[in-house]
Amino acid sequence: MSEVKNGQACLFVLAEGDFRSEAEELATRLNLPLRDDLSEEEPCLRLREDGLSLWMGNVSVRGDFSRLKGRISERNLSSEAIVRAARGRGAAEGLCTDAAAGLGEDGFLLAAAGFSVILYERNPVIASLLEDALKRAAMDRALSGTVGRMSLRFGDSVPHLIDRTDPSDLIYLDPMFPQRSKTGAVKKKLQLIQMLEEPESEEERLLSAAFAASPKKIVVKRPAKGPHLAGREPSYVIPGKSVRYDVYLPE
Ligand SMILES: C[S@@+](CC[C@H](N)C(=O)[O-])C[C@H]1O[C@@H](n2cnc3c(N)ncnc32)[C@H](O)[C@@H]1O
Repeated sequence: MSEVKNGQACLFVLAEGDFRSEAEELATRLNLPLRDDLSEEEPCLRLREDGLSLWMGNVSVRGDFSRLKGRISERNLSSEAIVRAARGRGAAEGLCTDAAAGLGEDGFLLAAAGFSVILYERNPVIASLLEDALKRAAMDRALSGTVGRMSLRFGDSVPHLIDRTDPSDLIYLDPMFPQRSKTGAVKKKLQLIQMLEEPESEEERLLSAAFAASPKKIVVKRPAKGPHLAGREPSYVIPGKSVRYDVYLPE
């Protein structure tokens, strides 16, 4: 498939168990080969009882909002740095565009904080993992209200920001940055997902598009000690231990 990068031509969909026909549909939709056997060395997508996941050897990744349940009470949310960055000075709980959605965890926290969130994901495999996580969460009473405020769009957010397809109060950006230092199992999972995407090479394009959308506020997630996105100085910063949030208040 054309969008899969970095030698990802070897990615395939595994046809297994009761989910063979769904696996076939997914392979057709993503233009990936369908195979019957697992491989230790090649990544594959598996559809099983617990949803869609990406596998490589014994490491797997799937979208999963259930592990964020403990963070979405109002008390806990108001201490989340992302929520403090999103809520203060300018944007109330309005419409938010998460223009680089990934597996949607940050978008989920913003939706839990009351924003209606439109999520764009340009990598079709990651978007499919997110779509599956949203479907599963919609069936969980503790999560359904929050994911009810989230809408996924497959594709590049930039043209939609420039066209102001969904005029948003808040634009949230978390483009991939080169190294997020993690250890052990987290690192392996991160490496697996990073096989599908590359560090953002078009920072200026993304940030300029966010400004062109004329929101009240732009929030950018960065490594705590990393450079500002596209080298642009923010209006203020919400600091954190491993990540910080750069906040831009367009005029
Ligand atoms: C670091 S991940 C985001 C993680 C996310 N914040 C979360 O909580 O799961 C960045 C994602 O943004 C996507 N992306 C980057 N630029 C994009 C664009 N212009 N349009 C849509 N998706 C984009 C990448 O494909 C990648 O999946």
